[in-house]
Amino acid sequence: MWGTSSSAHQVEGQNIFNDWYEWEQRGKVLNRQVSGDACNQYNLYKQDFEMMKSMHHNTHRISIEWSRIEQTEGHFNNYEIKHYRRVIEDMKKKGIRPIVTLFHFTLPHWFAKKGGFLHKDARKIFNRYVEKVVTELGDLVEYWVTVNEPYVYATFGYWEKNWPPGKRSIRKTLKVLKELLYVHIDSYKTIKEVYERNNFGESQVGFAKSFIWFDPYSQKSLMSKLVAVFYRYFYNKVYFKPFCTGRMPLVFGLKSIPEAKKSIDFMGMNYYFKCTCHFSLFGLSSSQMQQQTEPKDERTLFNWEVYPEGMYHLLKLVYRKLKKPIIITENGISTLDDGQRISYILRHLDATYRAMEDGVDVRGYLYWSLIDNFEWSEGYTQPFGLVAMNHRTFQRIPKPSAAFYADICKSGSVTDDMVNKYAKEVGNRILK
Ligand code: BGC
Repeated sequence: MWGTSSSAHQVEGQNIFNDWYEWEQRGKVLNRQVSGDACNQYNLYKQDFEMMKSMHHNTHRISIEWSRIEQTEGHFNNYEIKHYRRVIEDMKKKGIRPIVTLFHFTLPHWFAKKGGFLHKDARKIFNRYVEKVVTELGDLVEYWVTVNEPYVYATFGYWEKNWPPGKRSIRKTLKVLKELLYVHIDSYKTIKEVYERNNFGESQVGFAKSFIWFDPYSQKSLMSKLVAVFYRYFYNKVYFKPFCTGRMPLVFGLKSIPEAKKSIDFMGMNYYFKCTCHFSLFGLSSSQMQQQTEPKDERTLFNWEVYPEGMYHLLKLVYRKLKKPIIITENGISTLDDGQRISYILRHLDATYRAMEDGVDVRGYLYWSLIDNFEWSEGYTQPFGLVAMNHRTFQRIPKPSAAFYADICKSGSVTDDMVNKYAKEVGNRILK
């Protein structure tokens, strides 16, 4: 699978019934920006899918905006459900396989007001939405991502305070994390039941987890090595442990949860960067959180450390433990230098290829993202896209990386010609 990844709130525009809308109105986003019309993809989806087709993408990941489907509690909006049917049908007509995410960070306003995933009936409420969406769209979709990046969602909203609901509580962070594990397991079961009941055929269900590579600041510093080991365990491994062993990890109470073992068909890997870990008396820290700059390391506009080798190691680790196919559901770079984007893609594909050569079953690569879009608390300041956009006219303006990536998608490979054409210097280094 070759293509790009996106989420509803970041590209659709006019999502006014969710918690992010509220958050933006309260001036919580950088420069007091609001998502507003975003990329206006709610209206321009046909044009965007046409562009993907012309760029030889064969897969695209979207998310369903729960707050559009269930604007008020328990009332499903048929017009919006039909909208998503039209979107997916159009995608398929153009030869693009849909991967559909059910929860990508935004909550309907009414659910957020109740406490979101901390509410005692959260699982039941989310499951009702899943059952409805899958019943209505299941005949068109094979690949489902239940939850996007539980760690990012829980820590930004309940610890870092920079996403809604803007809380700071370890207890709540862990509770939301644990709840989302169950939400995934319930959704998996529901999707399988709905497919069975309606004869929808095959379904592949996974969740998308953010992975970060953690390295110690110095091999000579025992304490920074311990911090890296802690993060590698807590951030990367804890969350898929139940799917390998059927037991909850220590932080979630070591309970036996045998159904987890049967609740994943593929792992969605979102990988962007590496964190360099330091130890300080004020607690555990990593360079990502401290935003330290180490001039020797390549950084993105987000100040993330570029480290393709991390993806190679993580692909191998996840596959060794889980033994399930992996789809790279997100990988991308925010930069004003499109040459850096070409180099980033090339090196991450090289890392993926080497992992595959070592036996890892990688089924697809989805670049984040097709078009520069609304980057949550950073507003419109982080251009991840292969395509730029004029915010007044919504005109799409492909960058050179779009043509480069299109060539890769067309042949499913990176050739010397491509490297010579687009990225001679980088290519020669990695293609031997
Ligand atoms: C998220 C996206 C986000 C991207 C870049 C991921 O954490 O799933 O919504 O835009 O990374 O930060």
